[in-house]
Amino acid sequence: MKTVVFVTHNNGKFREAKEKFRSIGVELRQYSGGYPEIQADTLEEVALYGVEYLSDKLSEPFFLEDAGLFVDALKGFPGVYSAYVFRSIGCDGILKLLENVVDRSAEFRSVVAYKEPGEEPVVFRGVCRGEISYEKKGSNGFGYDPIFVPVGSNLTFGEMDVKEKNSFSHRGKSLQKLLEYMRRVMGKD
Ligand code: IMP
Repeated sequence: MKTVVFVTHNNGKFREAKEKFRSIGVELRQYSGGYPEIQADTLEEVALYGVEYLSDKLSEPFFLEDAGLFVDALKGFPGVYSAYVFRSIGCDGILKLLENVVDRSAEFRSVVAYKEPGEEPVVFRGVCRGEISYEKKGSNGFGYDPIFVPVGSNLTFGEMDVKEKNSFSHRGKSLQKLLEYMRRVMGKD
C-alpha cells in the first residue's frame, strides 16, 4: 500500500485528510516535525517554502497545507496572518471586529503542496465561500470553525462532523484535487 506523509502538527487537519484518503486506499501518515512558516504575501509562498525546507528531510511522498480566512469587509484580513490572529484575538476578536458589520461574507482558502522524491512540487487550491456568524456555534473542528458558515448550509463548520465539513470546505476541495492527481499518477483511472 502506498504511504503518503501529511506534514502538520494540526490533528484536526490530519483527521480531515485521513477521512478523504481512506477512499483511495492510500495510507496517510502524520509527520509533526514542522517547518518554518515564513511571513509572505500568499499562501502559495508559505507552502512552497515549507516543501523546499522538507524535501531533503523526508524520503516518502509528502504534502503540506497552508490555509487562511479572508474576510471581505476587512479587505481580506486576517488572510496570511490567520494563525497569528487566531492565537492573539481568536474567534472572539474577529466577531468584535465585525460588530455592527452587515456584510459578513468571507472565504477560506487552502493551498496544498505535494512532492514526490526527485520531482517538482505540485500545488492544488481550494476555496470555500461563506459568512462569519454573529456568535460562536459548535465545538467540532478547530480554529475559526465555530464562526464560519459555508454557502449551502446553515451550520458553522464547528457544528459539522468531519465528513460534512469536507463536503464544503476549502481543504476538502484542495485535497480532492490532490487525490484525483494521485489516482491518475498511480494509474487507477
Ligand atoms: P495554517 O494553515 O495552519 O497556518 O492555518 C492558519 C490559521 O487558520 C490557523 O489559526 C488555523 O486554525 C486556521 N484554519 C486553517 N484551516 C482552518 C479550517 O478549516 N477551519 C478553521 N480554521 C482554520
